[in-house]
Amino acid sequence: MSQSMTVPAVRARKASSGTGGKGAGGERVGAEPLVMVTAYDTPTARIADRAGVDLILVGDSVAMVVLGHDDTLQVTIEDMVHHTGAVARARTRAMVIADLPWLSYHVSAHETVHNAGRLLRAGARAVKLEGGRKRVPMVSALVDAEIPVMGHVGLTPQSVNVTGGYRVQARDPEAAQAVVDDAVALAAAGCFAIVIESVPDSVARAVTEAVPVPTIGIGAGPACDGQVLVLHDLLGLDGGAAPSFVRRYAQLEADAVAAVTAYAADVRGRRFPSEAETHHLLEDASGRPAQPSGASGGATRISSPRTGAGDRRAS
Ligand code: KIV
Repeated sequence: MSQSMTVPAVRARKASSGTGGKGAGGERVGAEPLVMVTAYDTPTARIADRAGVDLILVGDSVAMVVLGHDDTLQVTIEDMVHHTGAVARARTRAMVIADLPWLSYHVSAHETVHNAGRLLRAGARAVKLEGGRKRVPMVSALVDAEIPVMGHVGLTPQSVNVTGGYRVQARDPEAAQAVVDDAVALAAAGCFAIVIESVPDSVARAVTEAVPVPTIGIGAGPACDGQVLVLHDLLGLDGGAAPSFVRRYAQLEADAVAAVTAYAADVRGRRFPSEAETHHLLEDASGRPAQPSGASGGATRISSPRTGAGDRRAS
């Protein structure tokens, strides 16, 4: 089995730290792009790890994807600790990064470090937080406490009440420059990688060229040093509501509905359970199964001449 992913190994995947930055057509070349997906529990973490991803993000998107909330503001540090623990118990080779939820890093550096520490004790190896230059003091406090931090710029869903929705960000030159400046400040403060969400491809390219750490894009085009998708979106487990930048690699929701429909039809048609799916009592010496002996004092008694009642299938 290959080695666990580490922060230095992630840093080394900066494209320009490979064979020199750009190919003949101006495309970014060098280190292999980083692959990140979200996971929120042990089975989804196991799936991601068996598929060989580099990074597993316990995203605060758990609020919308798994818990049925309308935005990510509804999850607490307790929720994130709970889900991070479930992901960590899959004991993945991929590095587990946990989102600091809204309000867990906005009040003070002391609270930020304390909350990030809870995520690390639950099994994360790094944390992610949203926002640009105004987060620099919190990033510095985390780095001082030996807690690796991933930044997140562009569309920052925890700001939905300020931005008014989940729209593509940085479409004019001033806003685009602000995203670049934010990313540069985060990298200078010590972030080991930066997520760029929902910005034009040229903005993501400018950020990627401006910072010395890997960028990981979502809805940010191909120029980033890696890509991230919400696992449920790429698996088609999203209720049909995936954004336009998502590529679906499976239709698991449709497959699951078909499977449960088939089960329901088998139960209603008395085709489930079959003989092989049924437990039986132990057989007696003559090979006869023990039989219920009939009602006695209101209760049915089960007798077996040799061993008494028992079950020949352990599970
Ligand atoms: O919470 C999340 O899933 C995220 C990704 C969109 C990067 O932050």
